[in-house]
Amino acid sequence: MMQKRCSRLLAIAGLAILPALVSAMGSRPQSNDEEAANLRIQPVAKVRLAPPTASGAATGSRSGEELYKAVCSACHETGVAGAPKAGDKTAWGPRIAQGFDALVASAKAGKGAMPPKGGSDATDEELARAVAYLANKAGANFK
Ligand code: HEC
Repeated sequence: MMQKRCSRLLAIAGLAILPALVSAMGSRPQSNDEEAANLRIQPVAKVRLAPPTASGAATGSRSGEELYKAVCSACHETGVAGAPKAGDKTAWGPRIAQGFDALVASAKAGKGAMPPKGGSDATDEELARAVAYLANKAGANFK
């Protein structure tokens, strides 16, 4: 009789302890929770940690000058790989004569040693601004 009561008490105590145990076990791998949270946060963190564009401005909003300085100048400033140098009217004259749209089109597609978009991630608009900036240095009057 006494023993039966005792085991019942134990069972009750066990039942009372069980949730505490379970919750302790559940909360123990807290670092896993943290990892999971970090994983969930990561894409945001990655976006924020992504290196800024060379000009410091967000892609899509760079001016022609910014894109030129960040990307195009690598070749066009000194004439690397046969690139027509910025401000060189002799080199740019015949090219400017093709018209703005033709220049933008070849800058977009790439030409000779120039990779498409000069190897940049420029938007069409940014690229057009950079072409205008570059051609205008050699006497064009593109907008
Ligand atoms: C890797 C070097 C390089 C980079 C970077 C580069 N260019 Fe060029 N670019 C060239 C070369 C080389 C040519 C001459 C291609 C030819 O006529 O064979 C050229 C030609 C051009 C032309 C004349 C195209 C034509 O039809 O005559 C334009 C416009 C131009 N580049 C704009 C740009 C702009 C804008 C950028 C930056 C977004 C840029 N380039 C970045 C190498 C480069």
